[in-house]
Amino acid sequence: MDIKKLLNDMTLEEKLGQITQLNAIFFKKDNTADITGPASKLHITEQDALLSGSVLNFIGAKDMKEIQDVAMEKQPHHIPLLFMQDVIHGYRTIYPIPLGMGCTFDEELVEDCARMSAKEAAVSGVHVTFSPMLDLVRDARWGRVMESTGEDPRLNGRLGAAFVRGYQGDDLKGKYDIAACVKHFAAYGAPEAGRDYNAVEMSEHALREYYLPGYKACVDAGVEMLMPSFNTVGGVPSTANKLLLDKILRREWGFDGIVISDYNAYREMVRHGVAEDDKDAAAKAINAGCDMEMMSATTYLYAKELLDEGRITMEQIDTAVLRVLELKDRLGLFDNPYRAADEKEEAALHLCPEHRTLVRRAAEEAAVLLKNDGVLPFSKKLRKVAVIGPFAAEKGIKGFWACAGRDEDCVTVLAGVRALLPDAEVATTPGCSFELGATEVPDLENAVELACEADAVILCLGEYQKMTGEGNSRATLTLSPAQMELARRVIDANKNTAVVLFNGRPLVLTELDKIAPAILTMWQPGTEGGNAAARLLFGDANPCGKLSMTFPWTDGQCPIYYSHMNTGRPVKNPKVITENGYCSRYMDAPVDPLYVFGHGLSYNTYTYDNLTLSADSIRPGEQLEVAVTVKNNGERTGKEIVQLYIRDRVASVARPVKELKDFAKIELEAGESAAVIFTITEEDLKFHTADGSFAAEPGLFEVFVGPSSDEGLKAEFRLEK
Ligand code: NOJ
Repeated sequence: MDIKKLLNDMTLEEKLGQITQLNAIFFKKDNTADITGPASKLHITEQDALLSGSVLNFIGAKDMKEIQDVAMEKQPHHIPLLFMQDVIHGYRTIYPIPLGMGCTFDEELVEDCARMSAKEAAVSGVHVTFSPMLDLVRDARWGRVMESTGEDPRLNGRLGAAFVRGYQGDDLKGKYDIAACVKHFAAYGAPEAGRDYNAVEMSEHALREYYLPGYKACVDAGVEMLMPSFNTVGGVPSTANKLLLDKILRREWGFDGIVISDYNAYREMVRHGVAEDDKDAAAKAINAGCDMEMMSATTYLYAKELLDEGRITMEQIDTAVLRVLELKDRLGLFDNPYRAADEKEEAALHLCPEHRTLVRRAAEEAAVLLKNDGVLPFSKKLRKVAVIGPFAAEKGIKGFWACAGRDEDCVTVLAGVRALLPDAEVATTPGCSFELGATEVPDLENAVELACEADAVILCLGEYQKMTGEGNSRATLTLSPAQMELARRVIDANKNTAVVLFNGRPLVLTELDKIAPAILTMWQPGTEGGNAAARLLFGDANPCGKLSMTFPWTDGQCPIYYSHMNTGRPVKNPKVITENGYCSRYMDAPVDPLYVFGHGLSYNTYTYDNLTLSADSIRPGEQLEVAVTVKNNGERTGKEIVQLYIRDRVASVARPVKELKDFAKIELEAGESAAVIFTITEEDLKFHTADGSFAAEPGLFEVFVGPSSDEGLKAEFRLEK
C-alpha cells in the first residue's frame, strides 16, 4: 500500500477521522440511536462518526467483521478500522492480575501469557491492546495498583518488555501478533493520597530515576503505541505535557509510534483548568505531541479552525495520520481487513485446555504464601474439609480488567477442592458478604460449627474484583469487620485453618497475621483460580511467588516501599514501635511494613551461602560477577526467586537503602543446590546525579543477595575512578 499517496488523496475530514477513536457502537448496523446517544454528547453527526479511524468496545470476531464492513463501505477511501481493546490479563482465558504476575518474577511466563492473550484477542478481531501498564505503584490505596506489576522500576521494566514481546511477536506480521500500547505515561501510579486521577507532584529527579524507566523499557522493546495519563504532572496534564511527550518521549527516547490520549482526556483538560474550552484542549494536546484522541472529537471538530488560526500545523496532522496508516499497513489490514478474526478459531482457542493449563500455572506462580506456621500443605488424605468465607464459592475472581472474560468461566475454590479431593466431604458457607463495610456475619454459628467438625478449614477472604481497578481507591485497607469477625471465630474453632485471600492490592493484614496459622494470597487469579488454590493448599503445587509490592502494617504508612531513603535520622529498629522522638518514626506504628517486597514462602526452606564477588573493585567499563549458592533443604521440588540488591553508600544525591538490580528464578529438586551467578555492570550503578547527568559515581557499593529485600547475604565492592 502506498501510504503517502493515500494520505495525499485524503480530505482534511478523513484525516481527522483517522486520528479520532470512537466507540464501536457508531458502526453497528442496527444502531439508530447514535445521534441522540453518544454522538450527541460529542457534538458530531453520524456521518462524522463514520469517518473515525479506530474503535474500542466491541466483542468478538462476528461483531468486528460487521463493524469493519460498515466502516469500509462508508469511508471514502475504504480504509479499514483499527480495533483496540483493554486486553490486560487475558482475553477470554484469564490469568492473574498484573500485580500477581509481578510476583512471579518470571519474564518467560509473562511473555507466554501475553502471547496467549494476543492469540485469543487476535482471533476475536483485536489489533491493539491497551497494555502493558507500567505505572510504578507504592500506595496500595490506589485501586489501579492491580494493573501494575508493582513497586520496583527494574522488575516492572523487565516484565513490561516481556509483555510487549508476547503481544507483538517479532514484527507484527505473525497472524496472532497484536500491537501493544504502554500506559499511562507518566507517574499515574503516584496520585496524591492514593486517590485515582489526582494530581502528581514530584521532582524531575524522582520522575526520571524511579517512574520513567518502566515505560522506557517498553519503548526500547519496540512498543507501537503509548498512552499519556489522566493526571497532571507538575501541574500540566500528561496529555498536554511537553516535557513528557515532546522532550523526553520523542526527543530523548526517539519514540516514533502513536501517542493516543486516554478516554476523553483531551476534554478533561478544561476541568483541570488548563484549557479554556474543547478547542483550546485540542490545540494543547496536539502541540504537546498527541496523535490520536480517544472517545472525544475535539480534534475532529476544531482542527480546521486551529489550522486557519495557525495554532497547529498541517504537518502535525499529517504526521499523526501517517503513523496511524502505517500501523494499519504493518498489521496487514489493507490486505485483509478482518485479519485474524475468525469465529471458528475463537471457538477452538478460547478457554482451550492448553490455555487453561497455562493460566493455572500462572495463578500458582503468582500466589504468595505470606505466612505458614506449618499447617500447609494440607494432607490429601483429609476426610472432612470446610471451605468457608465470602470467596469460597465466588466466581468473581477474574479481576477488574478482563474484558471478554466471564465470571461464569472461573473455577471457585470450592470447585477446585472438590475436584482435587473427590472422596472428601467438603462443607461450605460464605459466612458473610464481601461488602466493603459489612459488619454482620449472618451465618456465623453455622460457619463455626462447620469449622469445628472439619479436619481442616480453608477460609476464603478478601476484596471483590470491583473493589480495585479504575476509580476504586480506598482510604482503609483492612478487611471488613464482618470478615475479621468470621476469621477470629473460625480460627478459634479450628487451628488447622489456612486463609486464602482474593485481593487486588496489598491489604493491611496485621491482625490476621497474628491469628491465622497460614495466609496465602491468590490475588485475583483468573479463570483457573480455584484449581490453582486447591493444588497449592494440598501440595500438588509448591508456592513460589514473591511480593512485588509491600504490604503495609497500617494504612497510615502509605506510600510505603522497600527502596526508601535512609533519612538523616533513621530509627534503630524499624520493626518495632520506637519510643523516642526526634527520629523518623511513627508513635503508633513501626516504620517497617508487615510483609516486605520480595517476601514469599515455600513448602521448602532455601539456604544461601558463599556469596563471592569476582573482584573487590571494578573500573568503569568492567563487570563484576556475583555468585551465590542456593540450596533446597526441603522435601519437594521448588522454585526460588533469588534477588540481588545494591546500595550506593555515598553519592551526590541520597540513594535508596536497597535497589533491586537483578533476579533469577531457579528450580531445585529436594536437597539440590545450585550456583547462581549475576553480572553487575557500570550501567547498573548509574543514576541521575546532582549535576543532572546519568552516571555511576565512584565509591563503595553494598551487594545483597537473598530471598527477599529484607534478608540475605552481604558483600561490598568499590567502583574506582
Ligand atoms: C481509561 C483507562 O484509564 C485506560 O487504561 C483504558 O485503556 C481506557 N480507559 C480505554 O478503556
